[in-house]
Amino acid sequence: MMPHDWRPPTLTTKRLTLRPFTEDDAEAVFEHAKNPNVTRFTLWDAHRTLEDTFAFVRDYALTRYREGMAEPYAITITPDTRPIGACGCFWAAKPHLTMELGYWIAAPFWGKGLTVEACRAVLKFVFAEYLPERVQARVIEGNEASARVLAKLGFREEGTLRRSLLRRGKFEDVRMFSLLRGEWKE
Ligand SMILES: CC(C)(COP(=O)(O)OP(=O)(O)OC[C@H]1O[C@@H](n2cnc3c(N)ncnc32)[C@H](O)[C@@H]1OP(=O)(O)O)[C@@H](O)C(=O)NCCC(=O)NCCS
Repeated sequence: MMPHDWRPPTLTTKRLTLRPFTEDDAEAVFEHAKNPNVTRFTLWDAHRTLEDTFAFVRDYALTRYREGMAEPYAITITPDTRPIGACGCFWAAKPHLTMELGYWIAAPFWGKGLTVEACRAVLKFVFAEYLPERVQARVIEGNEASARVLAKLGFREEGTLRRSLLRRGKFEDVRMFSLLRGEWKE
């Protein structure tokens, strides 16, 4: 456990600032996270009320920060401070030095390369700070935009975990991708 006030450091890219979430972000996040187009292929459901968003920016985020994880990062377009999405890496299996990358971005900002830009900064940071051997990412079958993001980041597709996810009453096939420490290029 980290001190209760530990937060991942702010990261900057050409267009973006990635910083920890605070409770003040709830309303801006809700505007995007309530959109079912965003959650079509996510493990989390579209937020129905602001309380759902508070559970994310407060309970989920603070729990992860207390574990010392660089997840979730609020993605903001510099100099605007309102989040337009989230991304980050957490331990999927710490004894095996395997981390997992996750990301989402609000619909009006799709197709501009922002997710790739944000994830590159996160990967650079976690490979240097957490020394994972492997960073994996899981994509629900059908989410071609997400598979493309991973390809652009240099991830390799390993295979499909068939019907491994029961989500919203339906079994989903999940595609597994990974990027190894020795393959990472900034
Ligand atoms: C998946 C997601 C993160 C992509 O974000 P983005 O910022 O639009 O991604 P980028 O602009 O960096 O790259 C998207 C790439 O996918 C391509 N793409 C978009 N839709 C596509 C589709 N339906 N089929 C194939 N490729 C597609 C784009 O053309 C682009 O590739 P290019 O640069 O070679 O043209 C975004 O759509 C999203 O947040 N979706 C909802 C949440 C989600 O699914 N998260 C991932 C869970 S694993």
